[in-house]
Amino acid sequence: MDDPSFQSIPANPFITPVPTDFLWGVATAAYQVEGHTSGNDWARFETIPGMIKGGARSGAAADHWNRVSEDVGLIKALGANAHRFSIEWSRLEPAPGHWDQRAWDHYADEIAQLRAVGIEPMLTLLHFTLPGWLAERGGLVAEEFPQRLESFAAEAGRRLGADVRFWCTLNEPNVQMFYGYVNGLWPPGLRDKALAVRAFAGLLRGHALAARALRAACPGAQIGAAMHLVVAEPLRRWWPLDRLATRLLETGFNWAFYDSIQRGALQLRLPGFPVLDEAMAELAGSADFVGVNFYRRHLVRFAPEAPTMVELRSGPGPLSDAGVEIHPQGLLTILRRVWNRYQLPVMITENGVADAAGRLRGPYLRSHAYAMAWAMAEGIPVKGYFHWSLLDNFEWTDGYTLRFGLYGVDFATQERRWGPGAEEFRRLAALLAAQRP
Ligand code: NOJ
Repeated sequence: MDDPSFQSIPANPFITPVPTDFLWGVATAAYQVEGHTSGNDWARFETIPGMIKGGARSGAAADHWNRVSEDVGLIKALGANAHRFSIEWSRLEPAPGHWDQRAWDHYADEIAQLRAVGIEPMLTLLHFTLPGWLAERGGLVAEEFPQRLESFAAEAGRRLGADVRFWCTLNEPNVQMFYGYVNGLWPPGLRDKALAVRAFAGLLRGHALAARALRAACPGAQIGAAMHLVVAEPLRRWWPLDRLATRLLETGFNWAFYDSIQRGALQLRLPGFPVLDEAMAELAGSADFVGVNFYRRHLVRFAPEAPTMVELRSGPGPLSDAGVEIHPQGLLTILRRVWNRYQLPVMITENGVADAAGRLRGPYLRSHAYAMAWAMAEGIPVKGYFHWSLLDNFEWTDGYTLRFGLYGVDFATQERRWGPGAEEFRRLAALLAAQRP
């Protein structure tokens, strides 16, 4: 099939019927919305001058910790039938092996509130933030990291598993490794290729053990990891080295994690990095779906001077507030590539746009829904779509400068505001609902 034309998106982008159990939801992460979190590595990192734009601190964030009921109502008002969110490890295990009953009760209650209004929860175990005690002991490269994640998963499965079917063990392990250990912009702020490879191995081992623990605790669980997947194209198509750099970016950044899962072996080969190649039987079959976080296309230039030998540029399309090109065709490209490579069901675990004025979000949503629907019409089994994000939130090192929320948040009053993006999300939800028998 040819690529759809994105010049004129039909008012109903769902060009073929969508399965009745399709998840149409919104996504958040604990640290970005809950607020009042002091026990993790990010809380410490934020205090280092110059790390967060404008010197911002996460502070109360969107105060979601105290506003669960209100926010569940907001999700419902969008017409969503699913919500992906993370549970904050540092709250649940404030000291090694010590579980905080009140924190577990809080999340059990959140899940119950969602279920009571017909919203399917999808839980992420690790969305970037590590308990402070674990970070002090080495974080992702600590020998104990995989077992610690495994016991956290076992506990989560045992306590919450009766009401949770969909799980992401990790969020964007490729980003966490790269930002933490290659460009050093995120905790632990290192630039060390040998440690980067060890962090990658730790994340893979952690995923495999966590998946095994979840399967044991909750039969029928659907498990995956949410990957940050980019469309990469050579800046100069005719230049072989740009093409080579593009391939390196795709294999090293996009595919290495799930390739390892499929091969049952920890594998990473990037020029200038130590080679990782080690069998791990538990990896095979550890994922039931591929989680796709899709945001962007990169034009890739071979740059021998750069630490990873690639330089990334934005394409010519319209730009978000973050300077990221809006490129809905890219979602179709990624879905095709993921399906061809892994033959696993796909879950769009994140897709969204930094857009403070709220002018882009509606068209963004509709055009990406069209790209997804096109992929589904081609027979690619996409099982759900989660928009990033429900609320404006703490955007990591960008602090509060970027706004991704379907609902805008006034951080002085915590007032939530309905916007045109929310209107479009609800309109699309109604179209999906109308298709159900
Ligand atoms: C992906 C990350 O998972 C999420 O935490 C972040 O806020 C969004 N991208 C937007 O940058």
